[in-house]
Amino acid sequence: MIPPKPAARPERVSLWRYMRLFRQDILSAQPARLYSAWMAEFRTPFFRSYLVNDPALVDLVLKERPDDFPKSGRVSEGLSPLLGESVFLTNGATWKRQRRIIDPAFDGGRLRETFPAMWDAAEAAAARLAARAGDTVEIEAETSHAAADVIFRTLFSIPIEDRIATRVFREFRAYQRSQPILNAAAFLRLPRWVPRGHRGGTRRAARAIRALLAELTAGRMQAIAAGEAPDDLATKIMTTCDPETGETFTEAEMVDQVAIFFLAGHETSASALAWALYLMAAFPDWQDKVAEEARAHLAPDFACVSRLRVARDVFRETLRLYPPVPMMVREATRPEHFRGRDVAPGAQIVLSPWHQHRHTRLWDDPDGFDPARWETEEGRASARVAYMPFSAGSRVCTGAGFAMMEGVLLLSRLLRDVRVELADRPPPVPVAHLTVRARDGIWLRVRRRD
Ligand code: HEM
Repeated sequence: MIPPKPAARPERVSLWRYMRLFRQDILSAQPARLYSAWMAEFRTPFFRSYLVNDPALVDLVLKERPDDFPKSGRVSEGLSPLLGESVFLTNGATWKRQRRIIDPAFDGGRLRETFPAMWDAAEAAAARLAARAGDTVEIEAETSHAAADVIFRTLFSIPIEDRIATRVFREFRAYQRSQPILNAAAFLRLPRWVPRGHRGGTRRAARAIRALLAELTAGRMQAIAAGEAPDDLATKIMTTCDPETGETFTEAEMVDQVAIFFLAGHETSASALAWALYLMAAFPDWQDKVAEEARAHLAPDFACVSRLRVARDVFRETLRLYPPVPMMVREATRPEHFRGRDVAPGAQIVLSPWHQHRHTRLWDDPDGFDPARWETEEGRASARVAYMPFSAGSRVCTGAGFAMMEGVLLLSRLLRDVRVELADRPPPVPVAHLTVRARDGIWLRVRRRD
């Protein structure tokens, strides 16, 4: 099937089979009915979880009463060796304070200031890809490289060729292979005595990455003190005071935040851009439109991004079909009543962009690739109730505006110079690793565009 969709599991399987499927991949571990259900309950001997697709329930959890549905500790268990007390994992007062300091760095005005660094990264990525013309390329590796470059340039004003940046990037690849973003524990709560632990490789890679990020942060602290720091995202975040307490982040707190910016900021964008390029190879008419638009409007000027409308619709449609963060998990803290069922405190609430974006009752032609839907009233109406690649409500992705600018700009810039074509291989199979990736990579033939 093009665009590819993972096969669903049979409706009824044993708990042990389910757990085994989960270890392989959470997308294919789910039954097909989740694409048409408003809610599904999963019962295990230990606890219950509820996957909610009903837009009213999603709104309740994410927008109306987010404080009653904190992030589930089961997800943080897996990521804490790398992320420590970062804004991605914390809850309550700590999380609110962290957002007060971080959010100003990502507001609209700052985004404009970030543009030149992003543009340089796009130029570098385009040059790397053009140099591969004639080759069949594993495109996820290219987009990871590009997205890591974007994040280092915008955060620390250093390109990926920098000594520390290169090492972080390399260590991170080892880490991402060993740690899924959602593990079985999120759905299948296991008693505390079941050993799960972090694999040795995961811990080692996390330690190595954090040591490198600590080196960068310490260097920046000194530069700020000496009045010599560049005006980038790191400086902005490290010098912003919490409006309520007047305090800034300590150096240790900043390392946690840098870790999440690097992780959330590059893994997700790399996944989205790789799927976007795959879709462009599969739908060459759309690719030609993006390239034509790039030739007409692309310029090293922030204002050009708003003129790249085709690239924007293609990128939005990519995020619909392949949301990099396929599911999010929250925990009920008080008794709830969802669609006629009692939900007990401690139950896991799973919000699934993956299923909502392909829901048969919420989208027309849900599995089809159709960027034109974003210009129709019907498409926009679906998006208003069933589109959340960046989550929603107060915990919405901090980098949403940043990521949209990055995705549109890079897609447009890459396709201005090169054409991508499907390689002679079976279609990629989407699986959920840290983000939605292709099981055996995404292989595309690269040609120079004349
Ligand atoms: C296409 C790219 C991206 C996608 C699809 C994406 C998606 C998401 C989603 C779904 C969440 C919520 C996760 C949850 O609630 O469990 C999230 C949170 C977050 N994202 Fe992104 N993201 C992207 C890019 C970025 C970038 C570029 C940055 C920073 C430079 C970033 C920083 C963050 C942070 C800090 C959080 C945690 C927010 C909080 O919990 O308060 N993301 N992202």
